[in-house]
Amino acid sequence: MNLPNPPLVARPSRRGFLKVSSAAAVASALPRAAHVHAAGSDEIKIALIGCGGRGLSAAVQAIRNAAGARVKLVALADAFQDRVDTAQKIIGAQLPDRVDVPDERKFVGLDAYQKATQCDVDMVLLCGPPGFRPAQFEAAVAAGKHVFMEKPVATDAPGVRRIMAANEQAKQKGLAVAVGHHLRHEVKHRDAVARIHDGAIGDLQYLRAYFNSTGVWVRGRQEGQSEMQYQVRNWYYFTWLSGDHIVEQHVHDLDVCNWMAQGVPVEAQGSGGRQVRIGPDYGEIFDHHTVEFTYANGLKMFSYCRHIPHCWNSFAQHAHGSKGSVHIEGHGRAEIRIAGQAPVQLDRGPDGHQLEHDHLFAALLEGQPYNEGDYGASSSMTAILGRMACYSGQVIRWDDALNSQIDLCPESMAWDAETKVKPGPDGLYACAMPGTTKVI
Ligand SMILES: NC(=O)c1ccc[n+]([C@@H]2O[C@H](COP(=O)([O-])OP(=O)(O)OC[C@H]3O[C@@H](n4cnc5c(N)ncnc54)[C@H](O)[C@@H]3O)[C@@H](O)[C@H]2O)c1
Repeated sequence: MNLPNPPLVARPSRRGFLKVSSAAAVASALPRAAHVHAAGSDEIKIALIGCGGRGLSAAVQAIRNAAGARVKLVALADAFQDRVDTAQKIIGAQLPDRVDVPDERKFVGLDAYQKATQCDVDMVLLCGPPGFRPAQFEAAVAAGKHVFMEKPVATDAPGVRRIMAANEQAKQKGLAVAVGHHLRHEVKHRDAVARIHDGAIGDLQYLRAYFNSTGVWVRGRQEGQSEMQYQVRNWYYFTWLSGDHIVEQHVHDLDVCNWMAQGVPVEAQGSGGRQVRIGPDYGEIFDHHTVEFTYANGLKMFSYCRHIPHCWNSFAQHAHGSKGSVHIEGHGRAEIRIAGQAPVQLDRGPDGHQLEHDHLFAALLEGQPYNEGDYGASSSMTAILGRMACYSGQVIRWDDALNSQIDLCPESMAWDAETKVKPGPDGLYACAMPGTTKVI
């Protein structure tokens, strides 16, 4: 028997924007998509904002979309000049006839996104650090641009609320909003989750999610950098910029679990800390988090993420039901195990990073509404909830987390602006302390 689906709304929020809609529900509620390219042109002009590793790949994947849309990269924006120059060189070398970025459409600085968004472009790709995403998404929607934005979509609750409000505007304007949860587009994920929803493994009993890895790059302090320049360059290690690794990476797994559970958690408790990743280069974030999330129907999701070398690693999501279980590798296959039957293997199929662009451009060409902003926002909020539980050591409820007024971002965005987080005399940054840190 199928477990009744948890309600789509965890609890009505005061602002009434907690709804986690299915793609179909979103699509049917949306006005027809806005025109994708200027009249008389069959080209879709895009601007890349955030020219790092993911941005470069996303731009190439957008251009190479299998939907047949003729995409041209016409503007680049980044906080730093070297990133813009490198992006132009690398993407231009791969796709010379699909890149047309003269110097006047190369923008550098913390306001570069505004200039790129104001260019004659149909779509922006927001691929910088997630702390900047809410402001950049708001600007794109205000300017009437279609959006592909990377996950996570925000690093704190005020940011999530801004994303949700701007996403409503995007729906009203018929703008496409894609979020980089590429696993939602992978064939084996779609198949495995559909089987769960169809009752193949019976009543869901618990979920498990893992993003255990060795960690990521470190960009050390350079002479002459302001504190703001240093933090933005070494952004992964500052919670206002990355959300911490539970938000920045583990959000993929948490998103899949929310998808499996058809809802968002109502509360979380957890623990975490920093054991090996200490020292001035590592800012303030933790290197491990373990969270127990609870959904409205009592379903538990156990989440584990770690950035520590020489340990057991896993990027996977698992669902356990009364009749069997589903095991999905992030980068590999899925397996369905049902008692008394031979396990069924599901091949990965094409990379979801390409598929997400194929699906986005197919919808645009067909004039179909396209919006992934609701689950993008609720999954980022789920990860933020988990972080809040670990930082505080308390049980944190979804509603309280989402309504938190704690804004992690600096008051102003300029290279000489004061950052809220500062190093001590020893160059070290204080990190959250369970038992004393306030998150609400
Ligand atoms: N979907 C996925 O599988 C996946 C994989 C990797 C990264 N990502 C996401 O992509 C985003 C970027 O990650 P990355 O690995 O490319 O990091 P990165 O550091 O390589 O690139 C980020 C770029 O943004 C630039 N930047 C910083 N502040 C900016 C600002 N205010 N305006 C414009 N640009 C700014 C940086 O200078 C840098 O060039 C993150 O949100 C990350 O979580 C997603």
